[in-house]
Amino acid sequence: MVKSMSSDGHQEDKRGGRVVFGVAGVVLAASLLFMRSPVQDTPTSSSPGAPAVLDYDPCCAYPCQNQGVCMRLPTNNYTCDCTGTDHYGTNCDIPTWTAWLKKNLKPDPETIHNLITSHSWFWAIINRIPFLHKRIMTYVYLSRGDLVDSPPTYESDHSYITLNAYYNESYYGRALPPVPEHCPTPLGVKGHREYPDVDTLIKKIFLRKQFIPEPHDTNILFQYYAQHFTHQFFWTDYEKGPQLTKGNGGVDVSNIYGLKEQDRRGLRSGHRGKLLTQVINGEEFPPYLKDVQGISMDYPPHIPIPDDSKFALGHPFFALLPGLFAYSTIWVREHNRVCDELFKVHPDWDDERLYQTARLIIIGEVIKITIEDYVQHLSQYNLRLTFEPHLTHGTRFQYHNRIHAEFNHLYHWHPLVSDTLHVNGTDYGIMDMAYSTAPIFKHGLDNFIHAMVNTRAGALTTRNHAPVLYPVLKKVIENGRRLRFQGINAYRQRFEMRPFTSFQDLTGDAELAAELEELYGDIDAVEYYVGLLAERPGPSVTPLSMVNMGGPWSVKGLLANPICSPRYWKPSTFGGEEGFNIIKTASIQKLFCLNMKNGCQNIAFTVPAGTP
Ligand SMILES: *[C@@H]1O[C@H](CO)[C@@H](O)[C@H](O)[C@H]1NC(C)=O
Ligand SMILES: *[C@@H]1O[C@H](CO)[C@@H](O)[C@H](O)[C@H]1NC(C)=O
Ligand SMILES: *[C@@H]1O[C@H](CO)[C@@H](O)[C@H](O)[C@H]1NC(C)=O
Repeated sequence: MVKSMSSDGHQEDKRGGRVVFGVAGVVLAASLLFMRSPVQDTPTSSSPGAPAVLDYDPCCAYPCQNQGVCMRLPTNNYTCDCTGTDHYGTNCDIPTWTAWLKKNLKPDPETIHNLITSHSWFWAIINRIPFLHKRIMTYVYLSRGDLVDSPPTYESDHSYITLNAYYNESYYGRALPPVPEHCPTPLGVKGHREYPDVDTLIKKIFLRKQFIPEPHDTNILFQYYAQHFTHQFFWTDYEKGPQLTKGNGGVDVSNIYGLKEQDRRGLRSGHRGKLLTQVINGEEFPPYLKDVQGISMDYPPHIPIPDDSKFALGHPFFALLPGLFAYSTIWVREHNRVCDELFKVHPDWDDERLYQTARLIIIGEVIKITIEDYVQHLSQYNLRLTFEPHLTHGTRFQYHNRIHAEFNHLYHWHPLVSDTLHVNGTDYGIMDMAYSTAPIFKHGLDNFIHAMVNTRAGALTTRNHAPVLYPVLKKVIENGRRLRFQGINAYRQRFEMRPFTSFQDLTGDAELAAELEELYGDIDAVEYYVGLLAERPGPSVTPLSMVNMGGPWSVKGLLANPICSPRYWKPSTFGGEEGFNIIKTASIQKLFCLNMKNGCQNIAFTVPAGTP
């Protein structure tokens, strides 16, 4: 059955290819007739506009357009390498016919985004025509994947390509290299001579005065999903530096099982593949820290916490917030449930095989739920997003991923955090829930989950950071400066979006535009993270630039997982059809409903209709 599905998918690949890639085909044909050499071989001393003598790296001015690579020459001029940019000329500014046609025929990302998030009747039809729908999903996977370099090119300690970027897996990757050192201004040559004062920036642009609710009914269950999910690949090694990570290249469920083999061993029961659990108040929970070997958790030394409130989890941070603890508990229960299902069909399998196979199934469930429930809500697309790895088989898609430093920064979504959580009659403030799982044991896990479902998240925008999160925000801005991120407009262009032309164009709000203009002086000098959040709200949960940068990193991270590759993605990897079907039918609702004690209701990433 699976075999026939994937061969169908493949056939449709070929047929549909002519439909969706028709325009690209015309462009390609035209380019074959007219293409000129994309490489410019004369360097550029006499480039108009470039000053004759500079006392700084001329690449600070970013003279090379269209992703051409600037290289400094000993005589204080530069050369642009236009290879592969479809442009030529001193500054890679002259398009080949291919590029010219693409630019003029391809709709801009904002238009496409508006199309996919509106016209629900149109998408309702498309979603029901399997061959068209599969064709579009294939296009989504491939076009998004194409925007992420594979293998990775840059890391944060060099502003040029090095082998370290590939071989030293302690580095986060970089989509754009750091700004060269010793430039006239922090982002090159544009803007003020110094970054704006970080405290002034936070006070003027970021701090919440009054809670701004998320306009798409997003709830706290979504906020904690985001945090729980992303911590499996954002493992910044803060002791060594924000450019380094302790983690692997993507979705490895290390947030559930542990990052190192020693942690994973410590959390296993050794029986029928299951993880260690204990029963508290008649419910199954993860074990106490004192009862497991070799696990260390991030409990702060200055806060006294009794031993029967300290838990051992796959991620050392996850016992410090009740929402993360809730997700951890649900996933441990789900793993053990999957082990029971596998044991029913494979009573002869040993503990090791049941555990390893259950872990593969859990990765599959995580990816399925992330695409079909989480990203679906996040994007607000009317196109129904589906997890169909076979669509990438036999294409140019690369099953390799590296987490990018910019992705980590982009995912700092603290405005989602609401001021309070109302759990069965009690209001908990943000600090009431820090370092504590008490609300879960006081009210029961089910009540806590219902509270997360019923509470609105905050809007991902400016002036919506809760004041107690000030230190987290300050750190992300300071780290962005340490890593010498290029500005928001450079990233817009890297991800094929037009640069913002003015502060008004960025924010859509005259007052905010004026504040930012005073702080930065030039739209091309606006810092990456600041620009991401200051962008005017759009149809998705995040503003548009975040969708169009986070999208490629997410799609790549999810679909490049080994389980999606042709040799893994088949029933036998997952213990047969039964295991494969657990993945194919997973949903956020099932995950909770199968693992709550007293049944579930309204499990979704939105507050139920009618919630104030
Ligand atoms: C710029 O570079 C070229 C080639 O490397 C060199 O011949 C020329 O003298 C340089 N111009 C200046 C102004 O340094
Ligand atoms: C990776 O790079 C970091 C930072 O330069 C360095 O400390 C570490 O030793 C490198 N690791 C390897 C395996 O080379
Ligand atoms: C609070 O919890 C108790 C016991 O679980 C339950 O009977 C009651 O309905 C809950 N109240 C609310 C408002 O959820």
